[in-house]
Amino acid sequence: MGEPSRCAASAEEKRHEPEDADLRARLGLIAHTIMVLSGKGGVGKSTVATHLALALARQGHRTGLLDIDIHGPSVPKILGLEGRQMQVSDAGMLPVSLDERLKVLSIGFLLGPDQDAAVIWRGPMKHKVIREFLTQVVWGPLDYLVVDSPPGTGDEPLSIAQLIPEADGAVIVTTPQEVALADVRKCIRFCQAVRLPILGVVENMSGFACPRCGERLAPFGEGGGERMAQEMSVPFLGRLPMDPSLMAACDAGTPIDAGPDAGATGQALGRVIEGILREIGSRAAAAAGGSCPASERS
Ligand SMILES: Nc1ncnc2c1ncn2[C@@H]1O[C@H](COP(=O)(O)OP(=O)(O)O)[C@@H](O)[C@H]1O
Ligand SMILES: [Mg+2]
Repeated sequence: MGEPSRCAASAEEKRHEPEDADLRARLGLIAHTIMVLSGKGGVGKSTVATHLALALARQGHRTGLLDIDIHGPSVPKILGLEGRQMQVSDAGMLPVSLDERLKVLSIGFLLGPDQDAAVIWRGPMKHKVIREFLTQVVWGPLDYLVVDSPPGTGDEPLSIAQLIPEADGAVIVTTPQEVALADVRKCIRFCQAVRLPILGVVENMSGFACPRCGERLAPFGEGGGERMAQEMSVPFLGRLPMDPSLMAACDAGTPIDAGPDAGATGQALGRVIEGILREIGSRAAAAAGGSCPASERS
């Protein structure tokens, strides 16, 4: 719940947008921003983003979860918030509050009763809406804003990286097999191109224990994400097992607990979340000490 960690020099260099006082004023109330990205869809971004935001809120941090997956918003379902609508106040639009610590915003809250409606927008429209999510929505002061993105390196990740140049960095989620890793390398290059620091890589769906015989199986392989992180010289944040009960919990809108007292998957999630916070802390310390990890990386 500390003060915003900023590296003024790199933020200045990274600014692609024209100066916008309203945007800057709103972003000035957000201490830390974490973007969750991936090369491919279906690798667990929304699962990680949602559990990260929940864990932060449960630790007492004022947390926002912004779902910018405009074509496939999953956050309302995972949090059991489907069908909820945004309210409008005199000050602007209000995100949906899961509880007093977690505010959530998703295009899913704007779809009205037809949750299966397709949103058909070109890039400039998406950029405009994402900008409005930051400027017209009353987030209030936040310790953390977690951003759940669509897969790849298209309009939405580019917009958010440009709109929040002082973001702490990206968490990149992948599965272990080579066909996914090839796209992660592109995702890493994307982050480097837009000067978005990389907090680390999460290897999801990394093996599982057969519920019948206990044998360890690895349908998508194991260890590929970790090896790729080493090759690309980016931090590795840990592995999450494939766990049908995690999938069922997300489908039911009842996310699992993450942390040392949780089950095996919750413990693994807890370690990943600790790793993300450790990275943010060490970057903030480096920035306060005068060296800037973001500029070192480019
Ligand atoms: N570790 C895991 N074990 C089992 N199912 C998972 C795991 N991680 C994600 N899933 C499931 O995989 C599907 C895709 O995950 P999701 O987080 O929506 O991916 P993305 O946001 O990258 O498209 C969802 O049904 C989710 O519940
Ligand atoms: Mg998703």
